[in-house]
Amino acid sequence: VSAAAQIGGVIEPVGAMPVIVEDDVLLGGNTGIYEGTIVKARAVLAAGVIVTGSTPVYDLPNERIISPAPGQPLVIPEGAVVVPGARAVTVGAGKSWGLSLATPVIVKYRDEKTDARTGLERWIR
Ligand SMILES: CC(C)(COP(=O)(O)OP(=O)(O)OC[C@H]1O[C@@H](n2cnc3c(N)ncnc32)[C@H](O)[C@@H]1OP(=O)(O)O)[C@@H](O)C(=O)NCCC(=O)NCCS
Repeated sequence: VSAAAQIGGVIEPVGAMPVIVEDDVLLGGNTGIYEGTIVKARAVLAAGVIVTGSTPVYDLPNERIISPAPGQPLVIPEGAVVVPGARAVTVGAGKSWGLSLATPVIVKYRDEKTDARTGLERWIR
């Protein structure tokens, strides 16, 4: 899935775990949602966020890392607002070289401001 959308739906590539996007989700431009990901209702994926079934997601409000067990889908929680982020590599050559990796970050859960922004997106379309 790579589109701006506010629809619910299931897209199931052959041989892969399904991608499920529940109702009233906002997908910003250039988002990518790939195998084994469930995006729960009302979540917002800001422009540029990429998630796969094996992408850990850093949930700042709840101070936890959402990391699916092998064979399980990644679940983006209901109402989560996810933006593109980066995390430092903390071991080995990546650490010595000062590398960081791209990672989705939940910065907040949906509030009135998000509703206003996403409502505007709906109006634009
Ligand atoms: C996510 C979005 C809806 C903003 O939601 P919001 O609830 O108003 O978010 P806020 O402005 O309260 O931001 C919360 C935090 O996330 C950060 N943030 C918000 N959007 C961000 C983004 N796209 N990338 C990185 N950080 C972002 C803000 O800077 C803020 O962090 P801070 O408090 O440290 O400054 C908006 O950024 C977005 O991506 N809209 C989709 C645009 C688009 O793709 N349109 C095309 C379809 S028509």
